[in-house]
Parts: sequence; structure tokens; C-alpha cells
Amino acid sequence: MPWSSALRYAARMQLRPATREEFDAFSRVALSAFHRELSDVARERYQRIGEPERSLAWFDDGRIVATTGAFTRRLTVPGGEVACAAVTAVAVAPTHRRRGLLTAMTRRQLADVRDRGEPVAILWASEGGIYGRFGYGIATRAAHLVAGRPAARVAAPPEPDELLRAGPAGEHVEAMRLVHDRVRLTRAGMLDRRGPWWQDNLHDPEADRDGGQPLQAVVVGGGYALYSVKPQFDADDLPSGEVRVRELIARTPAARATLWSFLLDQDLTASTTWDLAPLDDPLPLMLSDPRAVRVSEVEGLWARIIDVGGALAAREYGSQLDPELVLEVTDAFCPWNEGRWRVTREGCARTDAAPDLALGVADLGAAYLGGTTLVELADAGRVRELRPGGLARGSAAFRGEVEPWCPETF
Ligand SMILES: CC(C)(COP(=O)(O)OP(=O)(O)OC[C@H]1O[C@@H](n2cnc3c(N)ncnc32)[C@H](O)[C@@H]1OP(=O)(O)O)[C@@H](O)C(=O)NCCC(=O)NCCS
Repeated sequence: MPWSSALRYAARMQLRPATREEFDAFSRVALSAFHRELSDVARERYQRIGEPERSLAWFDDGRIVATTGAFTRRLTVPGGEVACAAVTAVAVAPTHRRRGLLTAMTRRQLADVRDRGEPVAILWASEGGIYGRFGYGIATRAAHLVAGRPAARVAAPPEPDELLRAGPAGEHVEAMRLVHDRVRLTRAGMLDRRGPWWQDNLHDPEADRDGGQPLQAVVVGGGYALYSVKPQFDADDLPSGEVRVRELIARTPAARATLWSFLLDQDLTASTTWDLAPLDDPLPLMLSDPRAVRVSEVEGLWARIIDVGGALAAREYGSQLDPELVLEVTDAFCPWNEGRWRVTREGCARTDAAPDLALGVADLGAAYLGGTTLVELADAGRVRELRPGGLARGSAAFRGEVEPWCPETF
């Protein structure tokens, strides 16, 4: 672009939060980058969950051409929880892409998150190539499960439970909330559901159902599942319906067995699927034929460490941490994180001590929830051991007791 046009362009452009009055226009631009329209249902949803004061939009001559936003949530980390910015609505209009608008918005957004005192930002990425450059790393992975009926049977089915209840999802929120509240803090990667978030978790517009029936809940003492059934018949007129699990949370093996037995054996269905199961879901181990469920790995949540000291102090570590681990962190996008950090059971602070490991902030984000290991990252050429034994020790210290998992997108 000649410099005179560049100057005119720069003079037209303004970056600021969208107001509540501008929020429909904001949502319209955000959705149009995903080739979707703002329906009445979507408008009502964004009005309910949106936080306009946390939005950022580029205005070109007063018209919104790029958007990003964040929800205020709490993220479970190994042994605790942390305030986080759940980043959403990242979009640049097709007319304005590849001019650096996302880069500038993200720079401002991460600085804002830091000013709010949230040590971590998280997001779901539409494409894998976008966020590494901004210091995000893949922190959770998930499993796509497909179980065939009747082959998939729970080997030790529980006694019939008279407390099994099923019906429209909205009728069981309180029972589900109780289970979720207890399980959430035991699994890194899960999010709190205060405010509008339980209702939003049941969001089920007909346009998104792809032939499925409205969302149902099945509840037992100690667990629940959200699911919908897509009824269908194959070319030979044989029933081939699909049970689609949205979420299954169980506090006990008995509750889990009851819920899976129910889901796997719905009349007139041929399969049960779950797009976003925990990577360590025990279903294959529960079946009399473990091959009756096919498991494929899918990407999960991306995490960005905004404040190394605050983020690393918020979680617990394995015993291999002791007495300390010193990390040399590079972070070109948020330079306030650069330098050496000493992690102990008491917290995390800057230090001059000799480092055990050197890594980029995206790799720290990937390892933060205890899923991706530092050994894996070192094998990928991303983490460097600087003191003998530091890698094995650091990797074991960061690894969580359970696989991190985020059951919900936002
Ligand atoms: C992804 C999107 C927001 C990028 O916005 P943008 O303003 O064009 O991004 P920038 O100009 O700041 O790009 C910065 C860099 O990222 C790269 N980049 C941008 N989008 C990319 C993608 N989808 N895949 C790989 N690289 C990408 C650019 O090439 C550029 O690289 P460079 O600095 O080496 O030249 C925009 O293309 C978009 O709205 N896409 C559709 C909606 C979407 O997928 N949003 C993300 C939701 S999670």
C-alpha cells in the first residue's frame, strides 16, 4: 500500500470496546467471518452471555470490521483454580484480513487481561495455525468416541437404579449442577458455570441439531449425561438412530456404568457418539469388547499464560518439583513474562539462579494444565534441558494426576 493510502487507512481505523448498543453489529461481524448469520436465537444468546465491556472491535470509518471478546470464567488447574479470560468471537471481516488487525487486537486484549489480574487466557481455535504466534499452546486434548450397538455393552452392568431419571434437559439443572460443582475441581481444564453458564450449556437451537431431537438429560445419584437422539432408518429400513452425548459427568464408577448402560442401549439406535469426551474416558475398559468403541484424539483447549508468576503459583505440582525448578521463559509477544522463574511449593518468583529448562511461553501454556508433557515438548524440539535431570523432573512435576479436559466450547 503506498504510504499516502496507508496513512488515510490508519486515520480511519479505531480500536475500542463495542458498547451494548453496538453489540448486535459486533455479533453480526463475528458470525459473518464464520459464514453464519445472526439469527434471533443467537442474538438473544449473545445478549445473555456477552460482556461488551470486555469486547474489542476495529472500526473502519465507524463500521465494525474485526472483533474479539472474552468471558470472565474460572479454570480448574491441578490442585486449584484460577481466574481466566475465555477468549471468543475472534473474527476479521474478509475485506480486512491479513493486514495485522488480529495481531493488534490480540496484543491489546492480552494487555487488558493482564491489567485485570487474570493470569491465564484460554480459547478454542478454529484453525491450528492462528494462535501459536500469540503464545497459546494446546493444553487439553479430547477423544471422539463412536460406540456400536449392540456390540458395545458394559461388562459389569450395575443393578437397575430406581433413581434413574430422564427427560428434557432444562428440568434437571439443579441435580446436574450439584454433580458438576463437585467434579469440576477434580479435573483441570473444567470451567465454573456461575451466572448464565448452566443455561448456556443447555443451549440447543433447532438450527444446530442436524436432525437430532431436543437435548435430554439422564440423571442418577452421582452423575448425569446430556444427550440427544437422531432418529433414522437405513436403506433397508432398519433402525439406525444415533445417540449423541454432549456431556457425561460421573462421581462414581457405579454412576458412570449406569449412565453408559442407558446411553449405549437406546431402542432403535445403532450407535452412540461423543465428540468431546475426556481423552482418558474409561469407556473402552468398561465394555466386554473394548473394540466396540472407536476412539480418536481431537484437539482441545489452547492456553496462554498471561502472568507466569501468578499462573504457576496457582497450581500444585508433583513431588519431583522439590526443592525447586527454574525455568527460562521466552515471550516475545508479552515481554513482561520473559526471564527466569523459580517455581517452588510456596509460589513462583523471578530469580537469577541457573535454569533447569528453557521454553517458550506457548509451551508453558501447553504443559500448564498437566496434559501435554515437557518431555513430549522436548522431543518436538521445543523445550531444552539446561541442567541434567531437569527435564525428567520438570515433566513429572508438571504432569497432572488426571488428564485435563474441557467439556464445553465457548
Ligand atoms: C483468523 C483471522 C481472525 C485472522 O485475522 P487477520 O487480521 O487476517 O490476522 P493478521 O493479519 O493479524 O495475521 C497475523 C499472522 O497470522 C497469520 N494467520 C492469520 N490467520 C491465519 C490462519 N487461519 N492460519 C494460519 N495463519 C494465519 C497471518 O498470515 C499473519 O502471519 P504473518 O505475520 O507471518 O504475515 C481471520 O482470518 C478470520 O476472521 N477468519 C475466520 C474466522 C476465524 O477462524 N476466527 C478465529 C476463531 S478461533
